[in-house]
Amino acid sequence: MATVRGPSCLLTLGRWRRGVGVAPLSRALAALVPGVSQVDNKSGFLGKRPHRRHPGILKLPCVRLPRALADAAQLLLLDSAMPNVEKQVQALTNYLWSRHLPVEPGELQRRAEHLEKKFLENSDSFQTEEKLRGAVLHALRKTTYHWQELSYNEGLSLVYMAARLDGGFAAVSRAFHEIQTQLPEFQPKTLMDFGSGTGSVTWAAHSIWGQSLREYMCVDSSAAMLDLAEKLLKGGSENGKLYIPGVFFRQFLPVSPKVQFNVVVSAFSLSELPSKADRAEIVQTLWRKTSDFLILVENGTKAGHCLLMEARDLVLKGKEKSPLDPRPGFVFAPSKKPKEEKFSMVILARGSPEEANRWPRITQPVLKRPRHVHCHLCCPDGHMQHAVLTARRHCRDLYRCARVSSWGDLLPVTTPSELLPSTVEDPPES
Ligand SMILES: C[S@@+](CC[C@H](N)C(=O)[O-])C[C@H]1O[C@@H](n2cnc3c(N)ncnc32)[C@H](O)[C@@H]1O
Repeated sequence: MATVRGPSCLLTLGRWRRGVGVAPLSRALAALVPGVSQVDNKSGFLGKRPHRRHPGILKLPCVRLPRALADAAQLLLLDSAMPNVEKQVQALTNYLWSRHLPVEPGELQRRAEHLEKKFLENSDSFQTEEKLRGAVLHALRKTTYHWQELSYNEGLSLVYMAARLDGGFAAVSRAFHEIQTQLPEFQPKTLMDFGSGTGSVTWAAHSIWGQSLREYMCVDSSAAMLDLAEKLLKGGSENGKLYIPGVFFRQFLPVSPKVQFNVVVSAFSLSELPSKADRAEIVQTLWRKTSDFLILVENGTKAGHCLLMEARDLVLKGKEKSPLDPRPGFVFAPSKKPKEEKFSMVILARGSPEEANRWPRITQPVLKRPRHVHCHLCCPDGHMQHAVLTARRHCRDLYRCARVSSWGDLLPVTTPSELLPSTVEDPPES
């Protein structure tokens, strides 16, 4: 179980949703997994590690906000003497979690035409075009989700900090941990954070790669947010030295592809953009500026997941090549992890996927039953599989590894598509 301790609250990260289980039908249809007994520890994949620490385990046990960050946040909140902070935090949290994607102009036009046709068919009481237009607009307003751009002024930036500093920090820490666990030799020197907000990405990156990182470029269109992030880095004051050296603040995204960053991040910021076209433009720019990893994190909601799938497809299927970096992209870490701090993430990497993604990822809670384990897997070739593992049919090592694994971990099975020929395959993920 992973937890994050914030300035004033304790947030549980890794407690799985209760009641989410395997549907009886899929349990009934679950396949036994023939052939997996080849995967024992002869290849030494466990080394001297116990099963409970097998190399596919990626969950983060506990994420703690850096003391300096927590203290600075507390100080800024106290200094602001903002009234009804709790109420404002709750209102913003509710708004962010219930947010849908903005309706696209084309879709709005289609709905308007449909309504107009319906009105004309059902009534001849519209004497003037103006009245008809008014009725269509009224119906549109009532039936269409009204997405609103948030204006992160000084007050809202503080409320955002109080609401999301710990959760945001924990989510990106989990994404960075994924890379660090799989590629411990990766030592990034530069990082760019789009929509950097409070700067939680910089703090999380510093906690993990502080030894190698030399430059952190924070880009945010809100001057108030940049100001707040800088104050947090200065211990909650206007003056003083930055707690993390090498942090730069910009209000605009540098568009030139000449300078690339080892790690580029957008955390909870694609959902702030008003249209699909805006998101596409930003994702393409971010990808052009990525030399190693592009990490995209959004809320663990349907809207958040859709945003990431849209961005992933844009990078993977995009015809546009960066003039300076023609290497293709691949998905380094596909994962949708609904938890108490629910977030969705996708990590795209440049290069070839041979070394990454060699094991299937567990996509639902692991169901431990007497002498057998149910695992839902997303295999490296993209297909979904429901495997039932037993120590007798498979090897003891794999069975024990499966029993101690959780949602989001990797199951140490090589070539699972050969080894796990399920009679029933779960539908592919969108
Ligand atoms: C929801 S906050 C996320 C902050 C931070 N990344 C985090 O994880 O907590 C979104 C941020 O994106 C910024 N933003 C929105 N549109 C932007 C744009 N077009 N360019 C740069 N920043 C933008 C907002 O000002 C805001 O600070």
